[in-house]
Amino acid sequence: MKHIDIKNIIETDEFIGKEVTVCGWVRTSRDSKNVAFLELNDGSSLNHVQIVIDKAKLTDVDVEATKLGASLKVIGSVVKNDRNNTNEIDAAEITVLGKCPGDYPLQKKFQKLETLREMPHIRVRTNTFNAVFRVRSVMAAAIHRFFQERGYVYINTPLITGSDAEGAGEMFQVTTIGFNPEYKTAEEYYSNDFFGRKTSLSVSGQLEGEIAAMGLGKIYTFGPSFRAENSNTQRHVAEFWHIEPEIAFCELPDLIEIAEEMIKYVVNDYMEKCPEELKFFEQRFEKGLTEKLLSVVNNDFAVVDYTDAIDILKKADVKFEFPVEWGCDLQSEHERYITEVVYKKPVFLINYPKDIKSFYMKQNPDGKTVAATDLLVPGVGEIIGGSEREADYDKLIQAMKDKGMGLDDYSAYLDLRKYGSVPHSGFGLGFERIIMYCTGMANIRDVILYPRTVGSIK
Ligand code: 4AD
Repeated sequence: MKHIDIKNIIETDEFIGKEVTVCGWVRTSRDSKNVAFLELNDGSSLNHVQIVIDKAKLTDVDVEATKLGASLKVIGSVVKNDRNNTNEIDAAEITVLGKCPGDYPLQKKFQKLETLREMPHIRVRTNTFNAVFRVRSVMAAAIHRFFQERGYVYINTPLITGSDAEGAGEMFQVTTIGFNPEYKTAEEYYSNDFFGRKTSLSVSGQLEGEIAAMGLGKIYTFGPSFRAENSNTQRHVAEFWHIEPEIAFCELPDLIEIAEEMIKYVVNDYMEKCPEELKFFEQRFEKGLTEKLLSVVNNDFAVVDYTDAIDILKKADVKFEFPVEWGCDLQSEHERYITEVVYKKPVFLINYPKDIKSFYMKQNPDGKTVAATDLLVPGVGEIIGGSEREADYDKLIQAMKDKGMGLDDYSAYLDLRKYGSVPHSGFGLGFERIIMYCTGMANIRDVILYPRTVGSIK
């Protein structure tokens, strides 16, 4: 169907005086004695184009064309509306492509985000989700460009796996059998299953990413990860999109530099390419968003040792729900205090106790901590988790044994430490988390098309 994107009509004067065809959904309609006005949106822009129907010229307009949510094809000439300096279309012909009955769910101008979550197939037609998904697309492209421009190789790691990359056991099982009383033992069950052994959806592409980096040098992944953790919070989903660079010949300080550069690049690109959306989010969801993002781009992030953070939290004049002691895993309230109240900017926390972190992290000489980093940002908390990797074969085996892990599933991973092991590092960025940070959307369910959370799948 030949037509022009509405974005091109409203953002340029190229089509003034010309006849064009546009398609879209009716967002608003107003009728008066001599003229009717429709606002049409086709998803190419946050803004709509006004269609003017001069009833003297266009006598036979289908009444269905004025119904909210109807889809139309409109032919007409583009004219400048001098009163508000916008481009609109003087309609010559209107075809109703799809009628929309009166029970269309988006009748009210604004609906609660919770209500919209109940209809993920319809919410993309609202301004909010129009903006969210355009920003998501622009940011995905920026992330690819950042790594591509720097010579990283994009790799795709398997989603079905026989090992647990985080060693935390929060995995969704993959099976073709399901409930079946025929099998008396787990062993019997798994040996009859599709792969002949227990398999799961991957929580991270890191282990395979490390394997690729040991030949390609610098790689990144950009794909889904799955977590079966029972966390019904505003920042957890069971299926999220994960960006995981892995870099050979790279130590923790180098990794922090790369992560900071990447965040700044992506935020800057978003601000440049999505000014309308940014303005919209600022007005509707987070006052001061633009200033916050400008400050991210223009200032250094803080780097704070876990041990220092614990001291700060212990001295804080705040009653935390979860007590703070050296060795504890920081809760969201602690992370937010550090980044929102103390530093008021993104903070790389480094050198966590080894007991609360994954087996693969490089052990520091103190014997107590590992060369790990989490990037914490105001409003969201952790958006990045990463580390330098343990490159020493014996130390890695010992760490795995200490954590009670079986070594059989990890022989390829261990081989990397046997054959030309190198210092290397990587991190994982939660794509939805950075979108939340850049848009001011407070709930992760509102930045992904179909959120999968505990007890909920639409
Ligand atoms: O800190 P995590 O668990 O680290 C890893 O998976 C490492 N293998 C990454 C690496 O070093 N290559 O997860 C990394 C990031 C978190 O900081 C968070 O942004 C996001 O992934 N994330 C989630 N996002 C949404 N919902 C969840 N349930 C998430 N779990 C982790």
